[in-house]
Amino acid sequence: MTLDELEARCEEVRMEWAQASAAAHDPEALEALRVRFLGRKGSVTSLFDALRALPPDARATAGKLLNALKGEITAALDDRRGALEREAIGARLQAERCDLSLPGTWRPLGRLHPLTQVRLEIEDIFQKLGFDVASGPEVETDYYNFEALAIGADHPARDDWDSFYIEDRLLLRTHTSPVQIRVMKSQPPPVRIVCPGRCYRRDDPDATHSPVFHQIELLWVEKGLTMAHLKWIIGEFVSAFFGPGYEMRFSADFFPFTEPSAQIHIRRPPGDWLEIMGAGMVDPAVLVEVGYDPEEVSGFAFGLGVERMAMLRWGIEDIRLFYQNDIRFLSQF
Ligand code: PHE
Repeated sequence: MTLDELEARCEEVRMEWAQASAAAHDPEALEALRVRFLGRKGSVTSLFDALRALPPDARATAGKLLNALKGEITAALDDRRGALEREAIGARLQAERCDLSLPGTWRPLGRLHPLTQVRLEIEDIFQKLGFDVASGPEVETDYYNFEALAIGADHPARDDWDSFYIEDRLLLRTHTSPVQIRVMKSQPPPVRIVCPGRCYRRDDPDATHSPVFHQIELLWVEKGLTMAHLKWIIGEFVSAFFGPGYEMRFSADFFPFTEPSAQIHIRRPPGDWLEIMGAGMVDPAVLVEVGYDPEEVSGFAFGLGVERMAMLRWGIEDIRLFYQNDIRFLSQF
């Protein structure tokens, strides 16, 4: 082969390369090209073999030509490989793209039952006034539910608290007042507690009665407490829970475990009087029963209905709505 011939071959190979490489669009095709041109039996490699057949004085020139051709093809292969890699990465990024502006999956949020909201709010009001939260069993003995609260077996007041009996002297508590007894028996005075809880009475359900309902009891026993403190505490509660501008009215009532006893009404003029709770000074007989000295300490208590507070707050007219679990009702609070 002469130098001219070699030069012509180089030109042919260059054109072959241009054609073949234009048609290569993936890494496998590029690898096949590399083998075809630069592999052990590749067209460029075999030209290097032909170099040896040239006269010595032409070899240097021919070597430069071949090296240039090999360099061109190597560089072009690298370029194409790089471009393909970038394309592949781009395609993958596009395919795996996550559109952060798309709306998410909506999950409905629950909320607290209105009775729970009211209970927590009332607990909070009294905790800020220094009261602890206490609780007792819903299945209660006759002793705690009645006897210790001065409601003897044949006391006519038992008719007001007709209950569900589990056994002869075991019943579902009819009020939260038994918690007063349990707490006083477990510690010396002073006592400042609120006792929220479920209560049960054998009432026929109607718009204002439910056989299961909730009360919050308050009890404060300490040296020197009078009815004036009771009035102050209730006034604090009314303005915290119902808001400003309410009048309060105490009227005489009767509970076997308080003396005197009162029914408390509130109203925002010119509205009607609304009954909010029963209350009274703890009867000395109850203090004696729990081992306190009525000459040393005095106290007062009240019991309010959680349902009643919620009904007054939101203008709800049927107590049964609280237990039907109708989401259309519950989601309004
Ligand atoms: N336990 C009474 C009731 O359920 C309410 C009450 C509590 C009255 C405390 C006075 C003192 O009707």
